[in-house]
Amino acid sequence: MASPNWTETEISRTMPPITREKFRTSQAVFDNHTERCLFKLSSQGHFLHLESPISIGKEANLFTARKADKSFCIIKIYRVENCDFNKMYDYLKLDPRYPLPKKNRRHVIFTWARREYRNLLKAREAGVRVPTPYAVLDNIIVMELIGDKEAGKPSPKLKDCPPANPEHFFEIIQAQMALLYRAGLIHGDLSKFNILNWDDKPVLIDMSQSTTTEGSNAQELLERDVRNVMAYFEKSGMPLQAGTMIQKITSRLRSAPEKKGSGKRRKEK
Ligand SMILES: Nc1ncnc2c1ncn2[C@@H]1O[C@H](COP(=O)(O)OP(=O)(O)OP(=O)(O)O)[C@@H](O)[C@H]1O
Ligand SMILES: [Mg+2]
Repeated sequence: MASPNWTETEISRTMPPITREKFRTSQAVFDNHTERCLFKLSSQGHFLHLESPISIGKEANLFTARKADKSFCIIKIYRVENCDFNKMYDYLKLDPRYPLPKKNRRHVIFTWARREYRNLLKAREAGVRVPTPYAVLDNIIVMELIGDKEAGKPSPKLKDCPPANPEHFFEIIQAQMALLYRAGLIHGDLSKFNILNWDDKPVLIDMSQSTTTEGSNAQELLERDVRNVMAYFEKSGMPLQAGTMIQKITSRLRSAPEKKGSGKRRKEK
């Protein structure tokens, strides 16, 4: 991982002083709240300034951002006014970690972003190949750039970059799904769009829909992930069976020595 192990104080000592005005003029147009959050994250030393837009998705805009050590990270910004927070609410309702008392747009979106951050963190801690999350603030997540960190060039997606050895690539994805499951999570939106092919190895991204293995929609999401992954690799002529794949992903939990309690609901910090 190319990110330096500096403390925030060390980073801010090396950063040129940044004023809100300077920050504002160098950025795209954001609502006031997002701009304040970006400014705060930047002042805390997570990045210097946004560099280039890389994606405008259904709910979020993504940018590369320059860090103090000149390398790049990713900033994911959920649009507060222009996103389907009803859909987010429906998903969150099924996640036992996030009881949602009220259907308030901001509350739902901020919870959604925080959940993605925590999912990434949990996956990372379990050794799953995902971007390391660095910070979350309201509707903004700062994370590791997968790709060429020095040049600020994100890795291609699996859909645009077929692996040299599909069998091997598939095996790694299946093992990652098993690791995730063992950590009590299901990706929930896994497909050739949310798997990057970096250096001929898979990295799973976009964990916004990930939920716990105890959520009431867990089995449905796992089956959907399996179907999507299979759909891609079957095109390479691999004979795959959903039942076998699900068994391989979930059986590692059953055979794990720390089985007792490993899938237990844990209160989020
Ligand atoms: N950490 C990362 N490193 C490199 N590229 C990334 C990273 N995270 C996201 N991307 C790129 O940005 C795109 C959008 O990111 P993501 O899937 O998280 O957002 P999204 O809102 O779900 O977008 P969409 O609606 O297009 O799926 C990805 O398809 C990928 O190309
Ligand atoms: Mg996506």
